[in-house]
Formats: sequence, structure tokens, C-alpha cells
Amino acid sequence: MNEAEYERLKPAIKGATGIDLGFYKPRQMIRRLDGYINRVAGGSVKDFVNLIGSDPGAATSLKEFLTINVTEFFRDPQSWKSLESEVLPELLARSPSLKVWSAGCSQGAEPFTIAMILETLAPHRPHKVLATDLDAAVLERAANGGPYARTELKNLSDAQIDRWFVEQDGKFRVGKDIRKRVTVMRHNLLADRFESGFDLIVCRNVVIYFSEEAKRDLNERFAAALKPGGYFFIGGTETLLDAGAIGFERRSTSFYRRTPEIAVAKAA
Ligand SMILES: C[S@@+](CC[C@H](N)C(=O)[O-])C[C@H]1O[C@@H](n2cnc3c(N)ncnc32)[C@H](O)[C@@H]1O
Repeated sequence: MNEAEYERLKPAIKGATGIDLGFYKPRQMIRRLDGYINRVAGGSVKDFVNLIGSDPGAATSLKEFLTINVTEFFRDPQSWKSLESEVLPELLARSPSLKVWSAGCSQGAEPFTIAMILETLAPHRPHKVLATDLDAAVLERAANGGPYARTELKNLSDAQIDRWFVEQDGKFRVGKDIRKRVTVMRHNLLADRFESGFDLIVCRNVVIYFSEEAKRDLNERFAAALKPGGYFFIGGTETLLDAGAIGFERRSTSFYRRTPEIAVAKAA
């Protein structure tokens, strides 16, 4: 597909899925969509537009393809160890209970991982974990605490599974003590308002296909949504360009701390 065809395709994709491709890197997106259109519509952009406009199932599949919901508990365990041993103790020394946002949380493994660590470090305190995603289908699983397959818990020990999950017919559901800390909500990072006053924002493996402009704007809004001294936790393969200008200082791989003063106020 050439760029002119891509431009014509954008409104049809927005109409069918609500996703505005204007925020995504065009070259990668064209390449990914070419492969997808080959698979579902024999390579014809016209047939593809007709398909997603007339078949709700095809529109849902496209949305799933565009958003990629891959996730797991304690994904990238080393980073979670740093969160548990360095970042959260610093935050808990300042505030007895924490307000955390898992943005782009997929099926809930990430916000539940955070709640489990908080309950380990500072039990029985009213920590709040906001779990949001664009995709209502994955959020349903998060809202129900699962059920998750044993393979999705591969980074947890048997003792952790016994402690945090209830087994039902070979599947695992997160227990009530953890679920009560997590609020699940649909939210589009590229269009909706941000809450503020967070001690920690976790946004990992979500923005990889976003354009540099969209990422910069988003990072400024994340900075404004954090308390001064609050932390931003990103994916292992991601970096924050212009961290200092946005109002972040890099602390270690994947972790940035909001500086006391920032020039922007974009949380609203
Ligand atoms: C690869 S998953 C990452 C899940 C989790 N953060 C992790 O690292 O395991 C990416 C998630 O980002 C969500 N997402 C993509 N674009 C989004 C947007 N504009 N607003 C909110 N969520 C979005 C997708 O629906 C998907 O569930």
C-alpha cells in the first residue's frame, strides 16, 4: 500500500475501531497493515475497507491486531525486582499508601502484579491501582481477576500462586484481597483525560508503535499526572528521549523520577 492509500484507509479504520492511526509511525504501520490485508482480504484495500465496515467481527479482529494485547505476570522479572527493592521502598517511605496507574494494562497481569508487590511490602494499606486499556475485550478479563492459564503465571513461584490465586478447574483467578485494590476502566491514552496525583505510573510495551510526537506529548502528560518525586516505569526496550526537558530524571533502566518542578501542566 502506498502512502496515499494509507491516508484514505485511516478514516475507515478510525470508523471501524475508534483507533486514530495519525498517532502511529506510518512506515511500520503500513508494513504491518500490508501483511494483515493480505491475510484477510487477499491484499485488496477496497475489499478490506468493505469488510471492516460491514462485519463487526472483522472490525474487532483488526482492533486486536492493532493493539497487540500480549502480557504476563511479572513480565521481565528483573525490572519488577528493581521496582520492589528500590522504587517502591522510596515511595512508601514518603507515603503510607500509594496511588498507582497501570496504563495499557491489557488483561490485568500488570496491575495485579503491582498490587501483589504492594501487599507484600506494605500489607493491609489502602493502596489504589488504576488499570486502564483502550480495549474493552481485554479489560473484561482484568475486571474478573482472570481466569488465567498456568502458563501465564510462569514467572511466579508455587508459593506465590498459592498465596495470590484461587484455582478453579485448572485455571487461576486473582484473590479478593488483591482485586479490591485494582480499579479497571476503559481509557484511550491518545484521547481521554488523565487523572493526577499518582505516585507511580506504569506504561510498558504500549507506545512502541506510536509516532515520536505522540510519545512526547503522552510523556509530558504522564509527567504532569505524577506527584513530584513520583516514578514512571516503562518497558525494557523503551527509552525516554528528552527526559530532562519533559520533567524526568533517569534513575535506572526503565525507571524515571519526576523532578520537583516541571514547566508543563497537561494532565487535564
Ligand atoms: C503489549 S500490551 C502491554 C500490556 C502490559 N503493559 C505489559 O507490558 O505486559 C499493549 C496494550 O496497550 C493497549 N493500548 C494500545 N493503544 C492504547 C491507547 N491508545 N490507549 C490505551 N491503551 C492502549 C493495548 O490494547 C494493549 O492491551
